[in-house]
Amino acid sequence: MADAVHVGSGKVRELYALDDARLLLVASDRISTFDVVLPTEIPDKGRVLTGLSGFWFARTQSVCPNHLLALRPDGRSTECRRLRMLPIECVVRGYLSGSGWKDYRTTGEVCGHRLPAALRESDRLAEPIFTPATKAASGHDENITRTQAAALVGAEQLAEVERLSIALYQLAADHARGCGIIIADTKFEFGLDGGGRLVFADEALTPDSSRFWPADEYKPGGPQPSFDKQFVRDFCERTGWNKTYPGPQLPADVVAGTRARYIEAFERLTSMKFSTYLANPTTVLK
Ligand SMILES: Nc1ncnc2c1ncn2[C@@H]1O[C@H](COP(=O)(O)OP(=O)(O)OP(=O)(O)O)[C@@H](O)[C@H]1O
Ligand SMILES: [Mg+2]
Repeated sequence: MADAVHVGSGKVRELYALDDARLLLVASDRISTFDVVLPTEIPDKGRVLTGLSGFWFARTQSVCPNHLLALRPDGRSTECRRLRMLPIECVVRGYLSGSGWKDYRTTGEVCGHRLPAALRESDRLAEPIFTPATKAASGHDENITRTQAAALVGAEQLAEVERLSIALYQLAADHARGCGIIIADTKFEFGLDGGGRLVFADEALTPDSSRFWPADEYKPGGPQPSFDKQFVRDFCERTGWNKTYPGPQLPADVVAGTRARYIEAFERLTSMKFSTYLANPTTVLK
């Protein structure tokens, strides 16, 4: 890319600096499961994630300003405002799953929230809870209490990101529920602009940053099928893979099934054909 300097790679995205004020986030088709990037890509996955983020950024502006400047015609590249990122992940949970369920089972609490006794895995919580985590440079993010998070970003700042995170989750979860998708939990990232204002950044409510469950199959009391990665997870389990690097190659039917589910999530949530998005990504912002 002639106009950009490569400044970093994540598991899924490449980061380029366009100038002092702007970044380009390019979402690849890489897929990770059990935190390992697999050797096989899912065609168009990066476009699905970029389009969904654009969709949510356009629809949450009344809650919070965000970093989005433009979607490029390739459908996988986002021009955004370059921010000073807060060193925490702002997780909101509406349902008890993943590390939240694990913490609850051992302590009865999640990030300092004491929850009622006898909740089951995947139960809906009475109210969504804010459960921050550290942004680990390597390895797994770690859940922290709000007191610990306040020590990292300041009490006032934390109260504000908590309020914004819950409001963003509520808006998106209500919308998704009408599309037959439960957003069990999601992770937001915020940054500060030059004027010290909080800005919603990174990706927005994608299958990579959230747990999406098909609402018609919801059955608390155990783990739920994930909307997107279930084919991949099931296949990986069947191969007996030990869940450390390197992961297994995916066969064509697993790739096709997974791609179809990502696209289905996109089409259900946006009420737009994925082909319409590919023809002109900016339609998702309208
Ligand atoms: N507007 C922004 N300004 C500055 N940095 C940003 C902005 N939006 C996102 N980022 C940062 O860019 C990076 C995106 O990279 P990516 O999500 O691919 O990898 P990662 O979060 O480092 O690792 P992982 O693969 O675990 O997600 C993150 O560190 C994120 O905090
Ligand atoms: Mg990330």
